[in-house]
Amino acid sequence: YGKTPLSVSDYPALKFEIYAKCSTTKARASLMHLPHHTAQTPMFMPVGTLGTMKGLTTRQLQDLDCHVILGNTYHLGSKPGQEIIEKAGGLHNFMNWPRGLLTDSGGFQMVSLLKLANITEEGVEFENPYDGQKMLLTPEESIGLQNTIGADIIMQLDDVVSSLISGPRVEEAMHRSIRWLDRCTKAHKNPTTQNLFPIVQGGLDVNLRKISAEEIIKRDFSGYAIGGLSGGEAKDQFWRMVNISTDILEETKPRYCMGVGYSEDLVVCSALGVDMYDCVFPTRTARFGNALVMGGSLLLRSGKYDKDFRPIDENCECLTCRKYTRAYLHSVVTKENVGCHLVSIHNIAFQMRLMREIRAAILEDRYPEYIRKFMKKRFGSQV
Ligand code: GUN
Ligand code: ZN
Repeated sequence: YGKTPLSVSDYPALKFEIYAKCSTTKARASLMHLPHHTAQTPMFMPVGTLGTMKGLTTRQLQDLDCHVILGNTYHLGSKPGQEIIEKAGGLHNFMNWPRGLLTDSGGFQMVSLLKLANITEEGVEFENPYDGQKMLLTPEESIGLQNTIGADIIMQLDDVVSSLISGPRVEEAMHRSIRWLDRCTKAHKNPTTQNLFPIVQGGLDVNLRKISAEEIIKRDFSGYAIGGLSGGEAKDQFWRMVNISTDILEETKPRYCMGVGYSEDLVVCSALGVDMYDCVFPTRTARFGNALVMGGSLLLRSGKYDKDFRPIDENCECLTCRKYTRAYLHSVVTKENVGCHLVSIHNIAFQMRLMREIRAAILEDRYPEYIRKFMKKRFGSQV
């Protein structure tokens, strides 16, 4: 940014420089130097599946100004997956992505996708979806797999419970996540080239969140994640948990709020001092024909767009908005892969533009005003 940073956190595989802080909120704008790339934060990290129906190619993700993407933790635990990635020399090579890469530990995916997962102190037990065999994903195996994949940032295996449950299971999961964190740290073979991020858990319980964050900062990590949220809980509870966490997690290091991607959450959590986000929402919602705009979203499937020859958004510079009309997208969006793909391009471009606006507002110290304008556009004049 051509000026002197306000603070620098310097680790072998991650240097985090804060260049601006909002004077009335906890928002900050930073540069995050990773082994493969330097990213500006706050940032949104799209999921980088290969060029499938909803996924974009890595070329398209670069053109859309994505600096860090989420890589798939390939074929979890099943042998061919890890071997192929190893032979390819890591996931950067395999998927031809030269920039920042982050992989999740896999437990959350197993628990949320398969539902058959059973959690023990050893790890996450699940049925292999390919052959029905029982598999066990331990903290050691997750880190081994992520070491092979070689992402710039890797995540601890955590015990994730739904944000909608309460009681002793939430406390058990929080403490177990800390124990698993220590096993992950011991198993991590590449601390100078890959950053292991711990994950704050504790459900919607203020006290458990505090204990989790405090345990984590006793250890030495280059950055932190906040997990177990955005699972259908009330917004005020979600934001309160983020606020408690960022109050405790060191201010000089990056903070990543996992699974968060609704525009209003990106705006609010950035004000609470979060720097990184990921979510399948923009591409998933594209599949149902929803195009993201500042006011909310356009349901392109709706008949009212059949003769609408405007782009999704006149102010958007993405390929889809430059070349295609709402009427065309309406006619293909749920029928043809290309429709879904074009809306995905727009939705990722939208997320990137929102993050650029957030960063600019923080750097120019007008973030509170930006939030007010955003909320007015989104929720009308009552705000
Ligand atoms: N993705 C979204 N939330 C979570 C979480 O709490 N833990 C992990 N590992 N991944 C997530
Ligand atoms: Zn667009």
